[in-house]
Amino acid sequence: MLLKAVDLGLASCWIGAFDENAVREALDIPAARTPVAIMPVGYSAESSGRPARRPIDEVTTWL
Ligand SMILES: Cc1cc2nc3c(=O)[nH]c(=O)nc-3n(C[C@H](O)[C@H](O)[C@H](O)COP(=O)(O)O)c2cc1C
Repeated sequence: MLLKAVDLGLASCWIGAFDENAVREALDIPAARTPVAIMPVGYSAESSGRPARRPIDEVTTWL
């Protein structure tokens, strides 16, 4: 979904840190369900372009 949002010219972010009970209450989520992530979707106020990436050999140790 994140990739598709970007593909459509939108911006998004995986949000894993939130008040689970507040979200549960705001969205009327049943007790049997657990919200694990929020995905805000919208138009970015800034155009940062593609983020710089360090080479894979710099961030990987092969064992
Ligand atoms: C499991 C997970 C939880 C995340 N939770 C949050 C969050 O609570 N708030 C936030 O601003 N970004 C959150 N992010 C997004 C990361 O901060 C980061 O923007 C995203 O992983 C892209 O980083 P990258 O381009 O270095 O891969 C989360 C990402 C992952 C994978």
